Amino acid sequence: MTAPGREHIRWFRNTAPYINAHRGKTFVLMLGGAAARHENFPNVIHDIALLNSLGVRLVIIHGSREQIDQRLAAANINSRFHEGLRVTDNDALEHVKDAAGSLRAQIEALLSMGLPNSPMQGSRMRVCSGNFVTARPIGVVDGIDFHHTGRVRRVDTEGIRRQLEDGSIVLQSPLGYSPTGEIFNLSLDDIAVQLAAAIGADKLLLFGRSAGVMDVRGELVRQCAVGDAKRLVVPDAEQAALLATARRACLQGVPRCHVLSYEDDCALLEELFTHDGSGTLVANDEYEQSREASIDDVGGILELIEPLEQQGILLKRSRELLEQEISRFRLLERDGRIIACAALYPFPEDACGEVACIVSHPDYRGGRRGQRLLRAIEQEAKRAGLERVFVLTTQTAHWFLEQGFEEAPLDALPGDKQALYNLQRNSKVFFKQL
Ligand SMILES: CC(C)(COP(=O)(O)OP(=O)(O)OC[C@H]1O[C@@H](n2cnc3c(N)ncnc32)[C@H](O)[C@@H]1OP(=O)(O)O)[C@@H](O)C(=O)NCCC(=O)NCCS
Repeated sequence: MTAPGREHIRWFRNTAPYINAHRGKTFVLMLGGAAARHENFPNVIHDIALLNSLGVRLVIIHGSREQIDQRLAAANINSRFHEGLRVTDNDALEHVKDAAGSLRAQIEALLSMGLPNSPMQGSRMRVCSGNFVTARPIGVVDGIDFHHTGRVRRVDTEGIRRQLEDGSIVLQSPLGYSPTGEIFNLSLDDIAVQLAAAIGADKLLLFGRSAGVMDVRGELVRQCAVGDAKRLVVPDAEQAALLATARRACLQGVPRCHVLSYEDDCALLEELFTHDGSGTLVANDEYEQSREASIDDVGGILELIEPLEQQGILLKRSRELLEQEISRFRLLERDGRIIACAALYPFPEDACGEVACIVSHPDYRGGRRGQRLLRAIEQEAKRAGLERVFVLTTQTAHWFLEQGFEEAPLDALPGDKQALYNLQRNSKVFFKQL
C-alpha cells in the first residue's frame, strides 16, 4: 500500500474511539441563515448526514434571517427590529414563511442526495419536520407590538424522540405554532437552547463564521467552563452571541456546547473526531472554576499530591519548594476544595515548557478534569510563545499518548532538564507540539 494510503488507514483507526463515543448520542445543530448562503453549506449538510450514518441522533435547527431580509428588501418592506428581534407583522409573516419553507426544502434536498460519486452515495436518509415547537406571542414590549414574533412555549419531546429512534434527522425551522392556530417567527437561539435542553441533548453545535470564539488577543479559546464563559471578553459580536447561547444552554443542562465554523469544510468532523477539535467547547462544570494558584493553596495542593508522591507517581516536593513555585500552578476548585492541579515550567530558550504535577482527586476521576487543566496549561504555554510542551512520567504514559503527546528520547529535553534527570526514576519523556 502507498504511504498516503497507510496514513489514511491510521487516521481511520484513530477515529474509532470518537465513533464509539458519539454513537447513540443526541446532537442539536444550529445553523443560521448566513450559513445556508455560504458556499460551504452543502458540505456541512453532507457531513451532518455522515454523522447520521454513524448512528448519531440529530436535530438540525436552521435560521432564515438573511433570507427574510432579502425577501423583504425585494418587496420594498422595511425590516423592523426591536432589541435584536424582528417585528413580524402580517406583511412580513408571508416572507418569513416563504424564506423558512424554501430553506427547509433546500436542506431536505441536500440530505436526500445520493448520486454516485457524491459524498452520500448509497445512503438513504430520512428527514422529518413538523409541529414540534409550540409558540406563544411575545406581545407588546416597550409599546411595540411584535405581532407574529414569538417565543418557544413547549417542545414536543416525545414526538422528536420517536423520529430520532426511527433513525430520522429532525429538521426544525425557526417557526412555531400556537394552540390558536397561528404561526410565529422564533429566534434561532431561543429554539436551539429550549429544544436542546428539552430533549436532553448531549451536545449543542453552534455554527458561526469564525473557527470558534476568539479572546481579546485574537486567540481561539479551545475550551471554557460555563462558569468562566461569563468573564470571557469576546470582541466579535457574532462570537459573543454564540458564546452567550452556549452558556445559556449549558446552564439549562446541556453538558457540552461547541462553537465552530460553517465556512471551513473540515470544521465539523475535526471538532467531533479529533483530539483538539477545531472550535470552542463550552462545558457545563459550573461548580468548578479553573484558576491560578496562590500561596493560600499550598496546603490544599499538598493534600492532593502527597498520596501520589508516596506511590512514586509524582516526584516529592517539599512545602518550601511548592511555596516558591506556587505561581506555576493552576487548579480546579469545587466547593472550596482543590480537586485537580497542574503546573507549567517554561524553558523559553528551548521554546518549550514542562507540564508537571498534573493530578485530579481520586474522588473526582472520570470527569476529564486532568484533561481540562492540561488544555489550560497548553494555552498558557502557547501564549508565552512556547512551541512544545513535554512531560516526564513513570506510570501515566498512555494517558499522555491519548492527549496527543509522543514519546521522545532523553536528549530531546532541554539541556538544563537533562542535567536534572533522575536516572533512578527512569521516567519516559513525551513531547507535544502546540
Ligand atoms: C492522569 C490524570 C491527571 C487524568 O485525570 P482526569 O482527566 O481527571 O482523568 P479521568 O479520571 O477523567 O480519566 C480519563 C481517562 O484517562 C484514563 N487514565 C487515567 N489514568 C491513566 C493512566 N495512568 N494511564 C492510562 N490511562 C489513564 C482513565 O482510565 C480514563 O479513561 P477512560 O475514559 O477510557 O476510562 C489522573 O488520572 C491522575 O490524577 N492520575 C494520577 C496522577 C498522575 O499520574 N499524574 C501524571 C504524573 S506524570
